[in-house]
Parts: sequence; structure tokens; C-alpha cells
Amino acid sequence: MEKLVVPSELTRLLKNAKRVVVLTGAGISAESGVPTFRDAQTGLWENYSAEELATPQAFQRNPSLVWQWYQQRRRMVSQAKPNPGHEALAKLQEMIEEVAIVTQNVDGLHHAAGSEEVIELHGNIMASRCFDHGHDFEYSVSDEEFWALDEPPTCDVCGSLVRPTVVWFGEALPLTALERAYELVSKADLVLSVGTSTLVQPAASLPFEALAAGVPVVEINLHPTPLSDQASFLLQGKSGEVLPVLVNSLS
Ligand code: OAD
Repeated sequence: MEKLVVPSELTRLLKNAKRVVVLTGAGISAESGVPTFRDAQTGLWENYSAEELATPQAFQRNPSLVWQWYQQRRRMVSQAKPNPGHEALAKLQEMIEEVAIVTQNVDGLHHAAGSEEVIELHGNIMASRCFDHGHDFEYSVSDEEFWALDEPPTCDVCGSLVRPTVVWFGEALPLTALERAYELVSKADLVLSVGTSTLVQPAASLPFEALAAGVPVVEINLHPTPLSDQASFLLQGKSGEVLPVLVNSLS
């Protein structure tokens, strides 16, 4: 990557910011080896798109297929480690009064990097609950044994099938998380939008809510997105390389 120059105006904004909101998508985890959604699916799933697997209808139609897709992703996520992008955000949270991370990711890597104040808009792939009533599901076997299950277990309370605690297409986001995200972006001094294609609503509306409230928005992405031509600043590149430079420009 040629040397990234952080605009002095951005460094000034970041230095003076008291409340920062960082919106993250799958791109921030790409350098941890977690495939993004709109890259072609690999291996067994190359004939399916995430949209065909991550829906309640797909699960009802073929619970074991959907379950196995998530089991494969759980095993992969369990081996993934935070990358310098996640670590830079955890460091930013130590340097600025209030830094909230609002993520669409379900991989838990912000927590693993030591970040606090992480809002998971789309849930967490490592958690499970039952399909019919949302009863949390704990399984008293090792993770490896759990991830080796080819069929979804059934709920101890109601007997319905167990599913991952992630938001599927067509499902509502956790309301408190979403309301908190809207509130945070409208009151922020600065918003960073990192590694998201800015396509999936309602998360994709958050950076535009910030702009409408007069809050400057920085986009950090490898490629252009629907946000790019309205963002206050564009830092094109890998988040694992750009974020450390941005955070180090503060010191
Ligand atoms: P996408 O796969 O749609 O977009 C990933 C974005 O990250 C793209 O804009 C890439 O250009 C960018 N990118 C890839 N590698 C990068 C890197 N190393 N550094 C910076 N940017 C990089 O993922 P999301 O936008 O997160 O929803 O997708 C949003 C939602 O769609 C997901 O949460 C999921 C999916 O369906 C649900 O599962 C409900």
C-alpha cells in the first residue's frame, strides 16, 4: 500500500472528538480470514448465496443444510483472530472519551480484540436459541463436539429446532441495539464506516443518518460503496492497514 496520508482536517476532528461511532462490516474481518458476504462463497457453499441460506424459510425448508453452513462458519470463526484493524479500534477506545462500535458482524472479533461498547446489530454466530420462541440454548458439551453436530439440536424448553442467534434476511434487528445505534450516530462528533458495502438495511442507513445530522463521516473501504460520494473523507485501502495509521496519527 502506498503511504497513506491522513488529511490534517481529519486528524484534527479525531483529536477533538469526544464521541465517535465506528460502523463496521465484514470487510474489517476479511484480514482475519473470515470471508465477506459478497465475495463468492467457497467450497460446499459455492452453489448457494448467503441470502439463500440465511433466512427463516431456508432453515424451515432444510434445517440441516442451514445448520451445517453455520457450523462450518462457527468452526472457521473460532479459529479467526482479531487483526490490526480490530486492535486499532480497541486502542482508539482507550484514547477517546466515548467510542462505540456498531457492527454488522457476528464473529465476535471486536470483543476478542478487547473492545468494549460493541453493539452487535446482527447478533453473534456463537450463540444459539430455539426457532419458535427464542429460548437461549446452552449445550453441555465441548464447543468442538457442538460444532460437529450435523443436525440442529432441539430446545430443552419447547422442543423446537435450535438455530444460531443471528439476524436472518427478513428478520427484525434487536430493537434496543438498533435504537441505540441511531441515537449514537446522531450525537457523534465523528463517524467511521469501515468495511461495509453499505447495502443491507437498516444498518446501511446509519452513516446517512449521521450526515443528515451534520456529523462528518469517514469511509474506510477497499472499494466504492453507495456512501462513497457523500462521505466527508474517503480512506481507500485495507482496514487492517488504514486504521492503525489513522489511530497512530492521534499520538
Ligand atoms: P459485504 O460482504 O457486503 O461487504 C464487505 C465490504 O468490505 C465491501 O465493501 C468490501 O469492499 C469491503 N472490504 C473487503 N475487504 C476489506 C478490507 N480488507 N478492508 C476494508 N474493506 C474491505 O459485508 P457487509 O457490508 O458487512 O447480514 O454485509 C452486510 C450484511 O449483509 C451482513 O451483516 C450480513 C450480510 O448478509 C446478515 O447476515 C443479516
